[in-house]
Amino acid sequence: MTGVVEPPEASRLAHPDVPAAQLDHVMVVLAGRAILNDISLEVIPGEFVAVLGSNGAGKSTLLKALLGLVRPVAGSIRVAGRSPVQARSDVGYCPQVRTLDRETPLRARDLVGMGLDGHRWGLGGMSRRERDAAIEQVLAQVDALAFAEAPAGRLSGGEQQRLAIAQALLTRPRLLLLDEPLSSLDVRSQREVVALVDRLRRQLHMAVLFVTHGINPLLAVIDRVCYLAGGRAAIGSVDEVIQSDVLSRLYGSPIEVIRAAGRIFVASDEETHE
Ligand SMILES: Nc1ncnc2c1ncn2[C@@H]1O[C@H](COP(=O)(O)OP(=O)(O)OP(=O)(O)O)[C@@H](O)[C@H]1O
Ligand SMILES: [Mg+2]
Repeated sequence: MTGVVEPPEASRLAHPDVPAAQLDHVMVVLAGRAILNDISLEVIPGEFVAVLGSNGAGKSTLLKALLGLVRPVAGSIRVAGRSPVQARSDVGYCPQVRTLDRETPLRARDLVGMGLDGHRWGLGGMSRRERDAAIEQVLAQVDALAFAEAPAGRLSGGEQQRLAIAQALLTRPRLLLLDEPLSSLDVRSQREVVALVDRLRRQLHMAVLFVTHGINPLLAVIDRVCYLAGGRAAIGSVDEVIQSDVLSRLYGSPIEVIRAAGRIFVASDEETHE
């Protein structure tokens, strides 16, 4: 890395058409097993992609590969035109399952601010005032100003999820990675989080990879799905991918897709899920 650091706005304006994420024949092996096997995917700026698949399919691993936390043994990954490690400040990440201790003394605002600490855009390069303004901006972006002073651990799951998204927005990412942000939320909060992410990706022209077990809350907003099974991926629109023949081929066993009342159910011998 050179000592010259481009501010995120400048790099965004200089390369508006660079894909937010590119995976080219990527293979990731963990503990001797190919978790991702020959995955190719290009995500354009502002695109909303749902990442689907059963437990253990490799959804979180895909996000970690884009973060540079796991390295592929074959193929290549680019994020905003750079290696995942070089592109860290272009990526916002909400990891899977974060429940706060109910007694945490942190206020919502302090919790979000922790996203700046230790970051290269963090306190080192920022005045107190710039830091406060950055936190205020992301709290406003996720409609969290009303509870910014509340003890974070006492907030609802949906409110905590909005704070996690606010934290991920601090570096003005070009790619937002959300790992099961809907788990443990009720239907109304799920709807709110999906609408929020949809609005943000349009306002900020930010690509989103949204890991979920249920596709139905996302049907109105997603551009494409990336369905993972057995290390492989089926990628395309909902209508292209969520089909009995496509998923049966992907799983290597019979899968039936049922569409009813505007919802989609995926049934195998073992389970039926949304
Ligand atoms: N660090 C690791 N070392 C070895 N195996 C791992 C490691 N991380 C993940 N795995 C294995 O890789 C597979 C994929 O894990 P991953 O967490 O990506 O699945 P997932 O699709 O996110 O599942 P879930 O829906 O349960 O979150 C699993 O079988 C998991 O046990
Ligand atoms: Mg996971």
